Amino acid sequence: MSSKLAINGGTPAVDPNIAFHKWPPTDESDEKLVLEAIRQDNHSGGGPHVVQLREEFAAWNGNDFCIPTNCGTAALHMCVAGCGVAAGDEVITTALSWTSSASCIIHHSGIPVFVDVDWETMHIDPAKIEAAISDRTRAILVVHYWGVACDMDPIMAIAEKHGLKVIEDACQAPGSLYKGRKVGTIGHCAGFSINQNKNFCAGEGGFFMTNDEEICGKARAVMSFSDIRPADAGRDYHQYGLGYKYGTANLPAAFALSQLRKLDHTNAWARENWHHLADLVKGTPNLFPMYSSDDRPTNGYAYVPRVDPAYAKARGVALQPLTAAIANALKAEGAPFSQARWLLPGHGVFQAKNAFGNGAPWTHHARPEISYDTAQFPVSKDCVDTCMWNANLHRPPNGKEQAGATAAAICKVFENLDDLTV
Ligand SMILES: Cc1ncc(COP(=O)(O)O)c(C=O)c1O
Repeated sequence: MSSKLAINGGTPAVDPNIAFHKWPPTDESDEKLVLEAIRQDNHSGGGPHVVQLREEFAAWNGNDFCIPTNCGTAALHMCVAGCGVAAGDEVITTALSWTSSASCIIHHSGIPVFVDVDWETMHIDPAKIEAAISDRTRAILVVHYWGVACDMDPIMAIAEKHGLKVIEDACQAPGSLYKGRKVGTIGHCAGFSINQNKNFCAGEGGFFMTNDEEICGKARAVMSFSDIRPADAGRDYHQYGLGYKYGTANLPAAFALSQLRKLDHTNAWARENWHHLADLVKGTPNLFPMYSSDDRPTNGYAYVPRVDPAYAKARGVALQPLTAAIANALKAEGAPFSQARWLLPGHGVFQAKNAFGNGAPWTHHARPEISYDTAQFPVSKDCVDTCMWNANLHRPPNGKEQAGATAAAICKVFENLDDLTV
């Protein structure tokens, strides 16, 4: 293969005859359940496919309680409410994630306190958590980012020592394992997403999961208008607190159910492609390999190629424009990756400390020393400036051919970084 980059007029690494397939694959099993759903007469959140989905996902993941929701963000808000976070209580979370990992805390008038990540795994750094704990801390919300489990043992030990709840944001991690245990079963409760980008995909949707009946009761109240008596005595149509409407409807639940029944198969397939890609790009100069280990194996969610910051330093260029140039070059080679620019404390809502107007919830509730100065999160900043992703290139029904072609594009670009204009 010519080493001249396609962006500089060379031949693209990815053969244009290779077809990349759309995600998720669907077949007659999906059509059967969706048709069944529209041909019966309870389309609400109490419909038969919602009930079935609830039971099957609880059993699949190994939780006592499961509530199917309309999205992962709603499930995470239910976690925050379920853990008893009150206005002004602090919840520790990672500086690097999708916005919902922090907005779910503000939704309950809690105050997010960010902690920097570990460079290799891109997860909250357990060694930095204790310094962020105050007498107002109620919970630690960890994110199993990019489909790999966080290092849960030290996190659970810190939580136990300080009497804190642990919320798992497992939105990207259905099927990810920590020392053989499924994520979502290790902390006190968890939120999953099944949106379009997720490895368990039904368009939109999610799950609240817990083994704790009390947490489940509080979460369920928030999910349904808060008209449920605290002791879960059934509905009496009285609003006991501020509630929302977070449940899913029967039709999307039917699609989710058919996808769930194939999830072990699609996860295994995605993982196999992921490892094929990872093996092919291994050892490529200036490419930082993505983390996955025997104790914390990927569920195949995404392969995130990152440039080694040492290369940018030696060349005297900033990471962010270098990554933008790499993303453009990959696109020209036929493997489109986009930059994932999600440094949470840098978002406007935190910089302004204003979510609901009049500075709420910070004005009346937060300790004045709570700071969202992004300089406190240098590792997260480097991750944001180097991350690129495209979750679909290696997902089923794509196979080794597509994963291999993607790897070839990555190798070519990273082997010729000096040829990129930055
Ligand atoms: C880490 C993480 N948390 C939360 C969410 C929110 O999920 P949803 O889009 O279903 O609300 C997502 C997905 O967008 C996510 O990737």
